[in-house]
Amino acid sequence: MLALGCDHGGYELMQEVKAHLDQKGIAYRDFGCYSTESVDYPIYGKKVAEAVAGGECEQGILICGTGIGISIVANKVKGIRAALCSDCFSAEATRQHNNANILAMGGRVVGPGLALKIVDTFLETPFSGDERHERRISMIE
Ligand code: RB5
Repeated sequence: MLALGCDHGGYELMQEVKAHLDQKGIAYRDFGCYSTESVDYPIYGKKVAEAVAGGECEQGILICGTGIGISIVANKVKGIRAALCSDCFSAEATRQHNNANILAMGGRVVGPGLALKIVDTFLETPFSGDERHERRISMIE
């Protein structure tokens, strides 16, 4: 189960992400927001981060205007490794090296075509499991 969250700056891109996940049969829980009306991104970043950290959801996707604010919020929650990605190389590397559990994107930064490839790359790439990466991740905690 994926946890999804966005603010008004990410709402439109999130609708594209949801349609894409629906098409692929990937289950998700949408923690809002639910329109383009102005809202505060910390609310949604925290909800998704807590759902992932608490084990209700395995991974999450967060989108705000830049992806920056909402990823900063998510990374305040213990156990969360939220990676802001605007390219597929970073999405692949952050799964392999950081075992990132939340993908953050900027709805005003990436177009839908690229964003959906970033989502696929993030979801399909496993953690490498290499000892050096395990060690470095444990050092974060
Ligand atoms: C909202 O205008 C914008 O500040 C927000 O979506 C995000 O970009 C913050 O980091």
